[in-house]
Amino acid sequence: MNEFIHLQSKNHSLIIKTDRVPEVLHWGTKIAQIDEDLLLSTERPISQARLDVDVPLSLCPELGSGHFNAPGIEGHRDGLDWAPVFNLVATNQSRNAVEFTLRDDVAKLELTIDLELDFDSDVLKKRTSLKNLGDSRYYLGKLSSTLPLPNHANELMTFHGRWCHEFQTQRQRFEHGGFMQENRRGRTSHENFPGLFVGSNGFSEQNGQVWGFHLGWSGNHQMRADVRSDGRRFVQAGELLLAGESILDTDECYQSPWLYGCYSNSGLNGISQRFQKFVRQNIVKFPVDKPRPVHLNTWEGIYFDHKPEYIMQMASEAAEMGVERFIIDDGWFIGRDGERAALGDWYLDEVKYPNGLEPVIAHVNEKGMEFGLWVEPEMVSQDSNLYRNHPEWVLGLQGYHQPSGRWQYVLDLQNEGCFNYLFERLNDLLTRYNITYLKWDMNRELVQPGHQGRPAVHGQTMALYHLVDELNKAHPDVEIESCSSGGGRIDFEILKRTQRFWASDCNDALERQAIQKGMSYFFPPEVMGAHIGPDECHSTNRRHHINMRGVTALGGHMGVELDPVKEPQEEIEAFSRYIALHKKYRHLLHSGRSFRIDPADKNQNIYGVESDDEMLITVCQLAMPDHALPSPLRISCTDTDAKYQVKLVEMPQISFQLMKQRPKWLDKTLTLSGDNLKEIGITLPILDPESALIVHLQKI
Ligand code: DGJ
Repeated sequence: MNEFIHLQSKNHSLIIKTDRVPEVLHWGTKIAQIDEDLLLSTERPISQARLDVDVPLSLCPELGSGHFNAPGIEGHRDGLDWAPVFNLVATNQSRNAVEFTLRDDVAKLELTIDLELDFDSDVLKKRTSLKNLGDSRYYLGKLSSTLPLPNHANELMTFHGRWCHEFQTQRQRFEHGGFMQENRRGRTSHENFPGLFVGSNGFSEQNGQVWGFHLGWSGNHQMRADVRSDGRRFVQAGELLLAGESILDTDECYQSPWLYGCYSNSGLNGISQRFQKFVRQNIVKFPVDKPRPVHLNTWEGIYFDHKPEYIMQMASEAAEMGVERFIIDDGWFIGRDGERAALGDWYLDEVKYPNGLEPVIAHVNEKGMEFGLWVEPEMVSQDSNLYRNHPEWVLGLQGYHQPSGRWQYVLDLQNEGCFNYLFERLNDLLTRYNITYLKWDMNRELVQPGHQGRPAVHGQTMALYHLVDELNKAHPDVEIESCSSGGGRIDFEILKRTQRFWASDCNDALERQAIQKGMSYFFPPEVMGAHIGPDECHSTNRRHHINMRGVTALGGHMGVELDPVKEPQEEIEAFSRYIALHKKYRHLLHSGRSFRIDPADKNQNIYGVESDDEMLITVCQLAMPDHALPSPLRISCTDTDAKYQVKLVEMPQISFQLMKQRPKWLDKTLTLSGDNLKEIGITLPILDPESALIVHLQKI
């Protein structure tokens, strides 16, 4: 029953051979037609001294059919039915989507595999579901989504990180063995962002074939890339289920999170442009189509020291600087004078705010800004009224001592009373006050995630989604930021119900260059919270000139994170200048195609955004230049036949240390054609370490 399913998007093809099980034959550049001889030409030989039959690398590889690497499914029925082998029983194709139904009549299991190749963005998404058709319970240990890769995909790029150090990348050969990451932290995590890239040898920002992957899930996950001993290779990702976490009764079904994949033959740029387009069109929804407002967030400015009069002064200064949304961070609710108490008591602290929050909000609104508020709904402090009244609402395991994290515990969102309390509190705040924005924080990992004694990361994650969904329904105009000690919960699934990520608690511009670069492979700039902090960074104690801080924050969803009342006038003027620059270009930054340029100097980070008629390029000198003279900036995405006006819009306003004479064009507007820019390029000034410039190109 060999047949082909051919899904096509604007540029790509996914060809699946259907036999006993579906098997991907090609995922990449578009194929015009499937030749009659394709089946014959792709038939594999059978090697000596191994199984006597060909074993397909199917969309859900099975141990029971001779796949000795990670199977797509693991489980059992009281020790039986632990090596299922499926047969394809139905295929339903509708345009660029297909659903396969497979059955194992012995183990009494039904598997459903959904695939969709998004036409516009070329992003592929895949999900796998399992239904128990038997009379007894099925203990599911794992149900992951598998996608194969061609054998020339032999280099891996993965992500690692930690608090204040998100989205760090690592390269390794991918020829034998493999890579595996397991996240058991109960949130997407700083450590194991669920994404990776596999590509042809030496793939770079601009060149090479690359396949990119992201698992849209905010709980535990497992993600791996394996090379089988026969050279075939695959990526596999799914939820990491704790022992006993998924037990399916008769007719019960488990559905995996979506795995998103994407191919590019133009390096990582081709991947990120596709993922970013997909996010814009399919994932993030802004309640109102308006420019992303510039933020001021109070955290690093005042921490827990809340005085309404002073906050209003901060708001006045913020408005003067051009801020459009003012957010009161942690410290506003009853008893919250430090990080050890009060989480869960989501009532205004009337000692700090004797006249209520209303006058502060009114002041913020009078200054023309929106008002936002910080919350951390999933948490409770031991020293809180909520904990004293409901210690049983803590997510945990009876009989064990659970370590606290930031002196707090996680609430059991599957507990109905707890869920309703949180909804009531948040709903009340959003109804009572003119709040248009919530910064939704989540500051600790799940250590003993037990609900009624059973493992509950899956249930907790689904309940979180449900809570946010319910609030979105009740308050459709309110935007939400997903924050988790910075970037601990950044993924497509949470972004379906939020509008912004706090990328990192690290506002150190040098660190941010790497964090934001890593994040940009998946997410567009308009969802990437990026703030200018004070000159001495609170998380690293490193100092950066405003040029480096301003340029770095300007490329995301911009904000400032400081106390403007205490900042010197010179800094205030600079913040205003960068805010104005951001506003001038945010139409382009927040809708254009982002790209990165492979730098000749490894100590540079070069990135940009383009639309059909303009382009903004940032060159950041991260450390000492590699050579005495910088290489020309060659811009390969220009239109060869077009002419461009090229103008410097930003560079350090201080005297340079490494350069005694600057190129004259810096003070002029150049007119250059696309091929000159592409092939010859423009000469850059010698940037001192930790400084940056921005160039604007306008098509004439
Ligand atoms: C962690 C967040 O990432 C910070 O931005 C800030 O909101 C603090 N929590 C407040 O406790």
